[in-house]
Amino acid sequence: MHILITGGAGFIGSHVVRHFLTTYPSYTITNLDSLTYAGNLANLHDVEHLPNYRFVKGDITDGDFLMQLFEEQRFDGVIHLAAESHVDRSITNPTAFVVTNVLGTVNLLNAANAAWNSDFQGKRFYHISTDEVYGSLGKEGMFTEETPYDPHSPYSASKASSDHFVRAWHDTFGLPVVISNCSNNYGSFQFPEKLIPLFINNIIQSKPLPVYGKGENIRDWLWVVDHAQAIDVIYHQGKTGETYNIGGHNEWSNIDLIRLLCRIMDAKLGRAAGESEKLVTYVTDRAGHDLRYAIDSSKLQRELGWIPSITFEKGLELTVEWYLSNSEWLNNVTSGSYQHYYDEMYGLR
Ligand code: NAD
Ligand code: DAU
Repeated sequence: MHILITGGAGFIGSHVVRHFLTTYPSYTITNLDSLTYAGNLANLHDVEHLPNYRFVKGDITDGDFLMQLFEEQRFDGVIHLAAESHVDRSITNPTAFVVTNVLGTVNLLNAANAAWNSDFQGKRFYHISTDEVYGSLGKEGMFTEETPYDPHSPYSASKASSDHFVRAWHDTFGLPVVISNCSNNYGSFQFPEKLIPLFINNIIQSKPLPVYGKGENIRDWLWVVDHAQAIDVIYHQGKTGETYNIGGHNEWSNIDLIRLLCRIMDAKLGRAAGESEKLVTYVTDRAGHDLRYAIDSSKLQRELGWIPSITFEKGLELTVEWYLSNSEWLNNVTSGSYQHYYDEMYGLR
């Protein structure tokens, strides 16, 4: 079995690569990543020596390159995570999201379809998507797999579009696809522009914690390791052509989550109770800020038996501990010096 994982140097991708390399030593895992600002090979330093791991630096927006790669490598499966993933960046530079998330996905679909050439036995194209495609909930209800798409940000619109293209390749060409839509992930190796690692880093440095609007928006948080486990289950047991929602049944308003995080940080840093919360600063709301996400993942639980492994309180504590004991990683990422890792590793500097 040879699986191509795209975006494997990013946050979730690196956990998926690690999970597959260590759980399935007989599989060859090729990580294809263009190493944007969000890609960091140091995220894989503990597994990159494994004999079943390959890294290819390449861009999914380059269709010819992908065609050639698929011709040379004979992949059995694709797990597609490469994307521009940060909502705030999609507001300042929407085009990059269309190019990578939409065109890049179509290029991958084309390359897989051409290489597999209607011989789909044992093949699978797994597209990793987000709950944001479903839009925003009011106080009640949850997103199911049947919820109509209603994206609001350029990021979620680009992911919704890519989901439609994946389904179109299934319906038109018979490509054996599967899609999952997951809620907010947290855990180690997350780039400190997203809420939890950004706030951990700011608390360490006693910098303000910029809470958008009133902090009333609600997100449904899942430990990234549990997401990787769900991806394994869906890759191996999910039904072709189906969609699975993944979530932790774990809704938190931003301000409640931030208060919990502040309490954990005070305890871990040996600061007086209430010290970190003083850093909370309410700032102008994100444009088009979705109010609430909540995922109903009962289909995944019922049909494939997946459930999250730990509570949010425990997962958040583990996450804080990881960032505190990996200050070198955090400093390299915030200073930008991690971007030389690839060059150093391959003797290019
Ligand atoms: P990330 O931004 O941390 O990582 C993205 C990775 O993709 C990086 O390594 C980057 O270098 C790579 N990449 C970007 N453009 C590329 C290109 N043109 N060619 C090749 N590689 C490229 O993202 P993440 O948070 O790990 O998210 C991974 C996937 O999961 C995305 O598709 C995202 O939409 C989805 N998702 C994320 C979350 C979340 O909470 N983070 C939740 C649900 C779904
Ligand atoms: O729901 C899944 C999505 O979760 C993924 O598809 C995205 O890739 C991922 O980035 C994430 O999107 P969010 O916009 O929900 O995540 P973010 O960490 O950017 O923000 C979480 C919440 O915190 C959101 O309501 C905005 C708020 N926020 C965020 C930042 C960065 C703040 O209040 N202040 C901040 O500085």
